Amino acid sequence: MGFHSLLSPSILVLFFIFLTSSSSEVTKPIKLVDNICKKTSNYTFCVDTLYSDSRVGSPDTDSYLLGYVSFGLAYINATTTSSQIPVLLKNANTQKNASLQHALQQCHRYYKKAVSAIEEAYNDLNSDTYSNLISLAKVASDSASDCEGSFNGTVKPYPLTERNNGLRRLCEICVVVSKLFT
Ligand SMILES: *[C@@H]1O[C@H](CO)[C@@H](O)[C@H](O)[C@H]1NC(C)=O
Ligand SMILES: *[C@@H]1O[C@H](CO)[C@@H](O)[C@H](O)[C@H]1NC(C)=O
Ligand SMILES: *[C@@H]1O[C@H](CO)[C@@H](O)[C@H](O)[C@H]1NC(C)=O
Ligand SMILES: *[C@@H]1O[C@H](CO)[C@@H](O)[C@H](O)[C@H]1NC(C)=O
Repeated sequence: MGFHSLLSPSILVLFFIFLTSSSSEVTKPIKLVDNICKKTSNYTFCVDTLYSDSRVGSPDTDSYLLGYVSFGLAYINATTTSSQIPVLLKNANTQKNASLQHALQQCHRYYKKAVSAIEEAYNDLNSDTYSNLISLAKVASDSASDCEGSFNGTVKPYPLTERNNGLRRLCEICVVVSKLFT
């Protein structure tokens, strides 16, 4: 009797470990991406984000491509949020609350600043000018933090927390990629 009942649970456990370890390794990133993402606060997010662009992972993936991809994603993210803010401002509940309105108006300015910083970074990449990339990525990231901060004193939950954190996470990748150019 004892033999099977001892053996089969351990085989099951081994099989389970095999399954879970292989499924968490969805993307095995190339060395350059691996090195970049190790320097960010969320490795998985970083790898998934960069690999969301189908060009990433091919043999000719280089820092230029990763620059375009990371700033491109940050650009889409910031413009999307920026265009959402006027919608929130028109919302009936917002209209009842002057402090919330004020915070959203400030956020709109911060997001315009973020969008133009990312645009400038993108143009810099196009013209092989790399010295400002890091600081432009930080301007965009700080704009998201400033937007979040402008809700201080209004009622929680703040309406843009998720989006602000999202832009900051993308900007963190931009900063690490930008450091490849220095
Ligand atoms: C890292 O990012 C993933 C999404 O890509 C998320 O599911 C996970 O919770 C994040 N981890 C931390 C510690 O924030
Ligand atoms: C929020 O505002 C209060 C007082 O107005 C201030 O003491 C506090 O430092 C502010 N918090 C943040 C995160 O800015
Ligand atoms: C408006 O915001 C203030 C804080 O800024 C809060 O005390 C108040 O409850 C809010 N009013 C409405 C109608 O949501
Ligand atoms: C931007 O980031 C937020 C937060 O992670 C996310 O919810 C949103 O889908 C992103 N938007 C785009 C267009 O990538």
